[in-house]
Formats: sequence, C-alpha cells, structure tokens
Amino acid sequence: IDVDPAELARIALTVAVEAGRLVVDERPVGLGVAETKSSATDVVTVMDQRSQDHLLARLGELRPRDGFAGEERGARASDSGITWVVDPIDGTVNYLYEIPAYAVSVAAAVGDPGVDGAWQPVAGAVVNPVTGERYTAWAGGGAWRSIGDAQPRRLQVQETSLGQALCGTGFGYDADRRAWQAAVLSHVLPQVRDIRRLGSAALDLCRVAEGSLDVYYERGLNPWDMAAGWLVATEAGALVSDLHGRAPRAELTLAGAPVLHSRLAAVLEGAIEQVGPEIVR
Ligand code: IPD
Repeated sequence: IDVDPAELARIALTVAVEAGRLVVDERPVGLGVAETKSSATDVVTVMDQRSQDHLLARLGELRPRDGFAGEERGARASDSGITWVVDPIDGTVNYLYEIPAYAVSVAAAVGDPGVDGAWQPVAGAVVNPVTGERYTAWAGGGAWRSIGDAQPRRLQVQETSLGQALCGTGFGYDADRRAWQAAVLSHVLPQVRDIRRLGSAALDLCRVAEGSLDVYYERGLNPWDMAAGWLVATEAGALVSDLHGRAPRAELTLAGAPVLHSRLAAVLEGAIEQVGPEIVR
C-alpha cells in the first residue's frame, strides 16, 4: 500500500481536534444516556454519535477510498487497504460526569481491524478536548505530544522497577468480567506503587508514552479503544502486546517499557493462573 503515514497522522489530528471541539461546544445541557449497549453500564450519549458522524463524514471527504470502523453506528469497507479505526469519545462515562479525562481517538490502520492480530495502526491521534492535550504518532516517525497548537515534544518511555511503577488499568462493562478483573487486580496491587483507573484507554496508552503512567494493562478493549494509543506508546519505545507477545487484543492489552512490560506480564500470568479463566455466561 502506498501511504505517507505522516500525512495520515496530520489528517487524524485535524479531524480529532474538530470532533473534540464538537463534543465540548455542542454538549447539550442536562446530557443523559442515549442508549446502553452490551450492558446497563455500557453507555452512549448523543454526542458519541454526533462525534462519530462528523468523523465518518470528514474522513469520507478527505480519504474517500479508505474504510471506516468506529465504536458507534456507521462502517465503510476499504478500497485502499487503509481503514480508519475511530473512538468518537473514549471515556464516555467521564464525559457524562464532566470529568475532564476523555478523548477522541483516530487511527489509520492496515489490515482488518475486525480480526485479532490481522491489523496494525500506521498513524494516529488522541485528543483531549478539555485539557488541549494532543498526541500523535506515525509508523517510524515517533510519538509526539503538545498542548493545543504549541510545538510538539517527542515522547520516550523510561524503565522503572515494578515496585515503583504507577500502573493504569480499566474495567469492562460486563459484571462477570469485572469480577474476574477485580480478582486479577488483587494480585497486581501489592506488587506496584499504585493503581489508577482513569477511564479512557486511549489516554492511558498515551500516558504510558509520556510517563504519567509507567505501565498499563486491560482485558476487553476493542480496536477503537486501543488503535491510536497503541501506536503512540509503541513509537515512544513501549512494548504493547497481549500476554504472549502478540498484537494487543480483547484478551489482553499490556503496555510499558520493555523490561517493566515483562515484569508485569509475569505477575499477570501468575495471577491468571491462580484466578482461573474468565467465566463467560
Ligand atoms: C472505555 C474506556 C475505559 C475502558 C473501557 C472502554 P468508551 O471506552 O476506554 O477506560 O476501561 O474498557 O470501553 O466506552 O468510553 O469508549
């Protein structure tokens, strides 16, 4: 595929900034839950849908041959080999509660984002529209952070010991999954400096890139939650994978500087052995 990933990253940033403005400026007074998805805690607001509609339309104008896969309704097959993998508001619960820790996440990927291990991001942007934080990355081009239009700074992860590591994680929306996640977490918590559940997987991965989290893991992520952040963390020198060194997937996404990554992987492996497999009813 003939692509210029730096150009795709510029497009990702442009449309993510636009959608971020929309979700802040046009938030209705008394915003509520528009619908629920997989469970009663898996919420969507009208603004998730409006943000996604905006991204779908704009990417359609700018890159008409590319595919589109987003968290909400609307998908397009790819003619070019590139598919945009988009989370219109990652951290919807934070958005609902006006906690300023949510983001628009836009990534350009090659392969099929519907199949684990069969795709990878080549460019991406994560934008927190409240704080103005912007993260971008493209394959081979590094990971970058800026506040608003200020000059971006290149990101590089640092190693630290597991005992000194601030570890991010997150929980799914399904009650059985949460019980499993809580059990695994009880094995991780005594081994790390502390745990954060910040509520946006896209931002968590960017935090690993910038060092405001040392390491991060979560079970149950979708491609749109991880696509752009995966590339930002990778381009900052982190390892982002599942427990077996393969591409991250719903089963597990684990991100951190390489040695720290392997230390947490070992703890998680031990924890999962003791807790047993997740019981899906
Ligand atoms: C969620 C957030 C959250 C993570 C969940 C995701 P959404 O995405 O990234 O941090 O723990 O697994 O589903 O639903 O707000 O786009």
